[in-house]
Amino acid sequence: MKVEKAVVPVAGLGTRFLPATKAIPKEMLTIVDRPTIQYIVEEVVSSGIKEVVLVTASGKSAIENHFDYSFELETFLAQKGKLGLLKEVKHISNLIDVVSVRQKEPLGLGHAVMVTEPVVGREPFVVVLGDDLVDAKVPCVYQMLKNVFDKYQESVVAVQKVPLEERHRYGIVEGEEIEEGIYRVDRMIEKPESGTTTSDLAVIGRYIVRPEIYDCLNRTLPGVGGEIQLTDALEVLRKERALYAYEFQGKRFDAGDKLGYLQATVNFALEHHEIGGRFRQYLRDLVAGFER
Ligand code: G1P
Repeated sequence: MKVEKAVVPVAGLGTRFLPATKAIPKEMLTIVDRPTIQYIVEEVVSSGIKEVVLVTASGKSAIENHFDYSFELETFLAQKGKLGLLKEVKHISNLIDVVSVRQKEPLGLGHAVMVTEPVVGREPFVVVLGDDLVDAKVPCVYQMLKNVFDKYQESVVAVQKVPLEERHRYGIVEGEEIEEGIYRVDRMIEKPESGTTTSDLAVIGRYIVRPEIYDCLNRTLPGVGGEIQLTDALEVLRKERALYAYEFQGKRFDAGDKLGYLQATVNFALEHHEIGGRFRQYLRDLVAGFER
């Protein structure tokens, strides 16, 4: 079974970044020189995905425009001879086919995935959450496809170990390690209360799911926060088929959180081909200044 589509839910209001997100989608906030959503789309493109399905809401058209062809801008840049910029802009619109589906009510992540059934159909697909950025030599989605899905042909969630006090912010998996970094999941719990699990394996926003997930979602009642949770539907899928968890190689940033967003910015700035060296020197001088 080939995995060719990626569902990217972007309907959230982004209240954690107000007032910055009052008039622009949080997915369009910039990390160095690219909006966060572009990091996500570039990761799926380099993992071999052919189509992105955005789950949107009103006020999110800037995201669709970002991946669209802009006649005015490209003509302007060509006329001015700004060929470097023209190449950058063309690169974005040529990245991948993007289609949008509306999530008409904010009923949760599970619901956001549910509304994509008519465009995804009966095939396995990837779900990528825009808040979770992963910096990795081998793209995280590619690692999941090659190391787990291709082998087991069952649904996979990406996980990382988190400290005890952070568990309540995540979907947590319990399971048995069957190969290095690969677990057969025995239980999945969304945002567990303290003392209800001993596992420290937290789901980060990367999932490869078999199409049966839609049937499970249709049977899933609202869970934590009164929302339809993808985690709860995956727990049903696990019982009916199987579910694997994969400890990916790479650094993950929670760009949906102010501190995580700053950490991602520093990380990607240090790696940036144009400013990385000078930024590193700036940070060194800054730290030396504090230490004096
Ligand atoms: C969502 C999922 C959760 C997962 C997290 C990763 O939660 O429901 O299982 O661990 O993303 O970022 P949210 O952050 O939307 O509350």
